[in-house]
Amino acid sequence: MDFEQLVRARSSVRGYRPDQVEKEKMDKILEAARLAPTAVNMQPFRILVIHTQGKADQLKTVYHREWFSQAPVILGIMAVKSEAWTRKDGRNHAIIDATIVMDHMILAAADQGLGTCWVCNFDPDAAREVFNIPPFADPVAFTPVGYPSEDKSKPKKRKELSDLVVYESW
Ligand SMILES: Cc1cc2nc3c(=O)[nH]c(=O)nc-3n(C[C@H](O)[C@H](O)[C@H](O)COP(=O)(O)O)c2cc1C
Repeated sequence: MDFEQLVRARSSVRGYRPDQVEKEKMDKILEAARLAPTAVNMQPFRILVIHTQGKADQLKTVYHREWFSQAPVILGIMAVKSEAWTRKDGRNHAIIDATIVMDHMILAAADQGLGTCWVCNFDPDAAREVFNIPPFADPVAFTPVGYPSEDKSKPKKRKELSDLVVYESW
């Protein structure tokens, strides 16, 4: 898939087949994460890989949507602020870095024919408890990873570029 096809192919998948994801595909997704850029190359993140089998009840407390635990794997990205670059005005870049890493994984999954869906509307306290996340790590986002149960891709609804782009000066 070339880059434009990839960007158009990725969409939020909210229904998964139970089929396992091949290890080679998971390895490619995790390698894309490893190669993602981070501010000052600090790499202030951890990736949670969760196999969902037998964990539906627990996972529902984290994010109450059936499709969340339908996929065989869930990936979570955790930001570690204490390991991140902080700009002189005080802005810590851990969450920006973690978001870039997650986007690399999501695009790599789409490149492998896999479905994903960004999930940020999860319960952070439940996530900490269920996945044993230490206090120094901040859960930023999760995504199921699996084969879509059906092709529900539809044209993307987006603002016009003229509403989004400012040339030279705002
Ligand atoms: C940061 C972020 C958080 C999101 N959180 C959720 C979520 O918690 N639950 C959900 O169903 N979709 C979530 N989404 C998916 C968006 O609704 C979706 O990306 C958007 O509507 C565009 O649709 P598309 O991904 O199919 O192109 C999230 C997307 C992003 C980028």
